[in-house]
Amino acid sequence: MSQVLQSDFTGQRVDTGSKWYQLFQKGVELGTWNVEKLFDEIGFEQDRESWKSLSQDERDQIRYLLSGFLDGEREVAGDAATNLQRIMGAPCLDSNTEKEMYMTMLTLTEHKHTQFLDIYMQEVMDDRDNYNDLDPRRGTRIPVVQATGLGEVFEHQGLLTAKAASTLDPVDIAKAAANYHLNVEGILARVGASAISRFPQRANLPLLNYAFKFISTDEGRHITHGVELLKELIAKERAGKPQFQGVEKGIVDTLYADVPYMADFGYMFTDALDDPLGLDFNEVLLRGGNLIDGMYNETLGLDVDYMQVISVVRDRYVEIEEWDLQKRIDEREQHYQRKRPVVTDGGN
Ligand SMILES: [Fe+2]
Ligand SMILES: [Fe+2]
Repeated sequence: MSQVLQSDFTGQRVDTGSKWYQLFQKGVELGTWNVEKLFDEIGFEQDRESWKSLSQDERDQIRYLLSGFLDGEREVAGDAATNLQRIMGAPCLDSNTEKEMYMTMLTLTEHKHTQFLDIYMQEVMDDRDNYNDLDPRRGTRIPVVQATGLGEVFEHQGLLTAKAASTLDPVDIAKAAANYHLNVEGILARVGASAISRFPQRANLPLLNYAFKFISTDEGRHITHGVELLKELIAKERAGKPQFQGVEKGIVDTLYADVPYMADFGYMFTDALDDPLGLDFNEVLLRGGNLIDGMYNETLGLDVDYMQVISVVRDRYVEIEEWDLQKRIDEREQHYQRKRPVVTDGGN
């Protein structure tokens, strides 16, 4: 966070020297790109034209990848506004006002990511059904996300952040932050965004690409926040504070719990469809592995057994490769169809 200039001003209730204050200011400055303005400035025309020229397999591949994002963004937005906001005021995080201030910026940007993806998918990729009528929060998980294991990571996120918001215990907070900021934002979102950045070779989607430059910049700040939060918890554990014992183990255990389902996302937008856009499952895994090593081991000084991660992913790959994914998606769609409200007016 050193690139942010120190504030020239001081307050009484707000610590303008805090690194979370600086991150908040950076969010105020850079996180205010306007989705509707982007639609006006770049327009949908080129993306729609390119979309029409793609083969069905290529369209499916892009739709699967963006479906993971759409469900993921909605989940992170919801958990940020509720559970994470409450966690930021935890006594073990020093009841820090600036952390609470920063979380409002994070929540705003996650809602904007959801706003962009939902409207983009509706306006450009008009041949989908996302079953938004089935959930009181306006949207149930898209069939491919639920049919693969990616939905499990988001489910885990909901459970971990809700528990941490309830107990405000440092180990619970560490687990929630590891799932949310490292696994979902730091690995899944970054690996997915790097796949999108490679589309131009085959599919010219300028609006999508432009928006993802903003989204990736926003995510960079979210990850910085998460890493700093985890560093703080780890430092307190290493200083011997009894309440913080178990933080490091909690973080690493959360990675091992999530990693097989995180690999499902890579499979879902590559080999599940024979990878017509050439996004390459092995490259996706390598990128994910490098991010795990960089964040968990190099930045946080933890001891993640890289070989164990690879072997968990390999075992999962062998398992899911045997699946008839289309059949699983069809079953999920049929299940959703059955849940749709029965027409009560006699069809009139
Ligand atoms: Fe996001
Ligand atoms: Fe984020």
